[in-house]
Amino acid sequence: MLENAGVSVTRHGAGLDEHGLIDALRGLPGSEPVFLGIRSKTRVTAAVMEAVPRLAGVGAFCIGTDQIDLEAARARGVAAFNAPFSSTRSVAELVTGLIIMLARRIFPRDRAAQRGLWDKSAKGNYEVRGKTLGIVGYGHIGSQVSVLAESLGMHVRFVDVVPKLPMGNANVVDGLEQLLAQSDFVSLHVPRSESTRGMIGAAEIAKMKEGAYLINYSRGDVVDLGALRSAIESGQIAGAAVDVYPTEPASAGDAFSSALQGLDNVILTPHIGGSTAEAQANIGREVGQSLVSFLVDGGTTGSVSLPEVDVPQRKQHSRLLNIHRNVPGVLSKINHAIAESGVNIVGQRLATSDDIGVLVVELAGDENSETVTALSDAIASLDTTVRHRLL
Ligand code: NAI
Repeated sequence: MLENAGVSVTRHGAGLDEHGLIDALRGLPGSEPVFLGIRSKTRVTAAVMEAVPRLAGVGAFCIGTDQIDLEAARARGVAAFNAPFSSTRSVAELVTGLIIMLARRIFPRDRAAQRGLWDKSAKGNYEVRGKTLGIVGYGHIGSQVSVLAESLGMHVRFVDVVPKLPMGNANVVDGLEQLLAQSDFVSLHVPRSESTRGMIGAAEIAKMKEGAYLINYSRGDVVDLGALRSAIESGQIAGAAVDVYPTEPASAGDAFSSALQGLDNVILTPHIGGSTAEAQANIGREVGQSLVSFLVDGGTTGSVSLPEVDVPQRKQHSRLLNIHRNVPGVLSKINHAIAESGVNIVGQRLATSDDIGVLVVELAGDENSETVTALSDAIASLDTTVRHRLL
């Protein structure tokens, strides 16, 4: 996608540290803006942005953006993008499958069969149809799980901190306590935040139905695993499926230990909820699309660092992308410069938030015309301009 858009792409096989990244970016030929694509391990710090003023955009080819200093990116007008929906379906599918695996105690029986034991019994085995699934966090993943679970005949209840449209016949519940008390299965789909850290501890687990199941495919610090272990050992919780842990090994093949190891109906997976070929392809597509749109059309839709300007595809006209400090008089200065130049404004789109503004101005006239280039240079040199491009 990038090459088709005329971008010259340089690849590095592994993550780079701060110095390596600065050297690699500084070593790129030419003086055009530079766009950086990273995975989760490469950190884009304020020092990197300071050292490479050409850096105009960062595409995080992953879900999270913790590895980018977003405040520094915003202050310097660097547009950062990620792929927030890329693995939604993968996580939702797996969670739905796990609900059945837990209810039928498949994993303990598989382990027995693998060891050569015929553990045939109907005891403690249930259908999921007619059971209640409680979803904590009804965002992208939570709402997809809701749809899939209903298709299995489950009753879905959910809680969220913001009002959400219930999918199908799902019902919002008045608070976590009620949800825990009503649900046969509780599945967590909240982000990592102050409000979700330690959200499910001993007190919350005690409020769950006797014999209920807990699924955590969200973030590792949401559940107190020691408390969960005690509840499983006492039989209050019938089983759990967990993909995320308070501390996780750095690389594939590393040793792993967890408070939940050695328990019967517990399924532990190595943070692979979103690890599918489809999710990887989606990541490439979503981030690639965002970078191309920013590069070619000046759009910042989906940016996690800058206000979002949604722009149509550029056709005949030239366009200015001006990222500026949002201070009184900034727009009148820009419009004054345009008026002075005699170039007609075909369209203008602006998004601001607090201290920063993104303005895309479509101008009648070719981007190579002397008038348009001179106008662009004049706007670029305004003291309010943080970053500027003639597209
Ligand atoms: P999302 O942002 O679409 O949804 C999260 C929802 O949780 C939002 O609706 C939000 O309002 C709600 N929420 C926030 N704080 C809450 C609170 N204290 N109580 C109740 N609800 C609260 O996020 P998405 O894409 O659905 O992802 C959910 C989680 O799944 C995230 O933690 C994400 O990191 C994790 N995830 C895990 C993967 C894995 O491989 N296991 C892969 C992808 C995402």
